Amino acid sequence: MSSPRPRAVVVLAAGEGTRMRSALPKVLHPLAGRSLLGHAVVAARGVDPEHLVVVVRHEGERVAAHAREVDPDVLVAEQDEVPGTGRAVLCALEALRGEGVVLTGTVLVTYGDVPLLQPATLGDLVAEHEARGNAVTVLSAEPEDATGLGRVVRGADGGVERIVEHKDATEGERAVREVNTGIYAFDAATLADVLTRVRSDNAQGEVYLTDVLAIARGDGLAVAALPVEDVAQTDGVNDRVQLARAGVELNRRLLERWMRAGVTVVDPATTWVDVDVELAPDVRLEPGVQLLGSTRVAGGAVVGPDSTLRDCVVGPRASVVRTHGTGAEVGEGASVGPFSFLRPGTRLGEDGRIGAYVETKNASIGRGSKVPHLTYVGDAEIGEGTNIGAAVVFVNYDGVAKHRSKVGDHVRIGSDTMLVAPVEVGDGAYTAAGSVIDQDVPPGAIGVARARQRVVEGWVERRRAGSPSALAAARARSAQDIPTTSDSDTSGDAR
Ligand code: UD1
Ligand code: CA
Repeated sequence: MSSPRPRAVVVLAAGEGTRMRSALPKVLHPLAGRSLLGHAVVAARGVDPEHLVVVVRHEGERVAAHAREVDPDVLVAEQDEVPGTGRAVLCALEALRGEGVVLTGTVLVTYGDVPLLQPATLGDLVAEHEARGNAVTVLSAEPEDATGLGRVVRGADGGVERIVEHKDATEGERAVREVNTGIYAFDAATLADVLTRVRSDNAQGEVYLTDVLAIARGDGLAVAALPVEDVAQTDGVNDRVQLARAGVELNRRLLERWMRAGVTVVDPATTWVDVDVELAPDVRLEPGVQLLGSTRVAGGAVVGPDSTLRDCVVGPRASVVRTHGTGAEVGEGASVGPFSFLRPGTRLGEDGRIGAYVETKNASIGRGSKVPHLTYVGDAEIGEGTNIGAAVVFVNYDGVAKHRSKVGDHVRIGSDTMLVAPVEVGDGAYTAAGSVIDQDVPPGAIGVARARQRVVEGWVERRRAGSPSALAAARARSAQDIPTTSDSDTSGDAR
């Protein structure tokens, strides 16, 4: 059954969030790859309201810009200097009126700092509110610790009479376990009318939205509470301890969803996934993995142990071990790591290999090609079936500008080759180990660019006489019956 659509959702995000002790406005703090406000806006959009309003004040422009980035169709309302949740909602209604919207029907109010809330819960609230013909329905909860929260005060008949804030509550009222989650459904006309009558004669001198309940009830309207089953969904974030707690819980829920969808998560406690990550059935995540941003992993791939991938694409049956990657694509059946660094623009082809201590950037490495050891590949295109020896550097930077290199198919780049860009090594070509290649190597040729080796016989026994090396050399010479040579080379550089 699909829930009825609310006319509007108002997301309150004007509070300063001082307990975060942060230069960043509280609602912009990230959790699982999305800001707190982003979570709230996505959840609100999930019930398909006609109007979605975000109320801002503290760092208003920054928060507003972010809200529009998350959802271009939000209406931003600015709260004035009058404090309180009631005032915030009034400002939202005024902003709607400014757009020519006269609200009727159901208006939901939620917070920008409640990141686990799901659209289904909002949908249930709308359905309950409308089915009962209530003027106000507050989503209530019974958390372990109610300190600081508003208590739902019920009358002798069990009906909701009012909400009293912790700071204004008596001892008796504080003993009540049912609290206000801060999430409500209102009849729009009632809300607009009653809010004009809410005063700020309370402990905090604020216009409390919660006072709408008592006033509406006094008007003889139906006021009720809907207890939420899944209390964690309504947990707010006020400080960094709660931020971490919400992060752990959200991650646990995301992983549970992926496991039920066929993903093996060996150690959920050390595996972190952002909300926008996509995993196929039969992905295996080893311990210590963070999959961030828009990372996608295809079926049969294994990631980890100990890998961090942001905005990466991992192909079917690929393996990525102890790797740090950003904006990289790993092809089907390819393998990466351990201990490699994939930077943006890396594309490893099918069955390709990037081994240990390799850094890549803006590099496409063709099907079946291998970069196995201790290598930097920057701004390069490597063809298919090519092998890059150990300790090769694609020298892409001349101190002023970056240049590209091209290496063809079935090439063998010798170990310790420096490929000084711009340079091209043709199909089937080789380079000799230790070469500094700054001129193109045509197809099928070998590029050799290194000094010839010189051998100075007997140098150690003459120049390092008595040393362990000299003694070892003498033993080897007598065992093999090699005579001492004369000092035929005395050039100064052989020391
Ligand atoms: C509020 C409720 C309380 C409830 C609790 C749940 C009131 C008076 N009290 O308390 O009953 O148990 O939430 O978390 O509503 N905000 C604005 N403008 C303001 C003040 C707040 O937009 O002037 C926003 C904040 O950004 C925040 C939300 O409203 O997202 C709640 O504000 P907060 O100050 O945390 O409310 P509490 O006093 O904790
Ligand atoms: Ca709060």
